Amino acid sequence: MNLIVAVAKDYAIGKDNKLLFHLPSDLAFFKQKTQNNVVVMGEKTYLSLPKRPLVNRTNIVLSASPNFSEDGALIVHSLKELFKKLKEFDTDSIFICGGASVYNLLMDYCKTAYVTVVEKIVPADTYIDDIEKRGFVLKECSSLQHENGLDFYFKTYENLNPKEF
Ligand SMILES: NC(=O)c1ccc[n+]([C@@H]2O[C@H](COP(=O)([O-])OP(=O)(O)OC[C@H]3O[C@@H](n4cnc5c(N)ncnc54)[C@H](OP(=O)(O)O)[C@@H]3O)[C@@H](O)[C@H]2O)c1
Repeated sequence: MNLIVAVAKDYAIGKDNKLLFHLPSDLAFFKQKTQNNVVVMGEKTYLSLPKRPLVNRTNIVLSASPNFSEDGALIVHSLKELFKKLKEFDTDSIFICGGASVYNLLMDYCKTAYVTVVEKIVPADTYIDDIEKRGFVLKECSSLQHENGLDFYFKTYENLNPKEF
């Protein structure tokens, strides 16, 4: 299982249920990694997508609301139900795509984390845990990227001891 996220330097990921940065090359990276794979999101993130479901991907949405339904998405209502559904897929094809509640809940089960790190701190209201403190080690780091006036890196982290689900 994989995690994919864009963070500010302080692990902020969102504000007012929106992303913090607009980075077309990061959106392209997200698309390339998740294409034809399985994306797992919380209800808030799913509803924040400008176009949903994400095309050419199996969209799985965690929602606490028993009546939540969306055409083209598989809805699960608990971690137990999610893990049962995920057993149907190859674990390497699964990407945890947010938001904070879902990243923090599932990062221990992820083997690889693709983390785009923007070298900036901006106002935010949603943060994920520091993944290095949650047992991930840096495996690869791109050269410094520049886009839309922002400096950022594409980093790949590995969890040396992911939990089984
Ligand atoms: N930078 C990035 O890469 C990135 C990626 C994705 C999202 N984001 C940002 O993250 C923010 C949203 O994050 P968020 O944490 O507020 O919301 P979220 O994780 O997207 O969604 C929360 C929803 O998921 C449900 N949920 C979570 N765990 C559940 C469980 N175990 N069982 C059933 N339902 C569960 C919650 O139900 P309950 O309320 O009952 O717990 C709630 O309805 C937005 O600002 C978004 O733009 C950023």
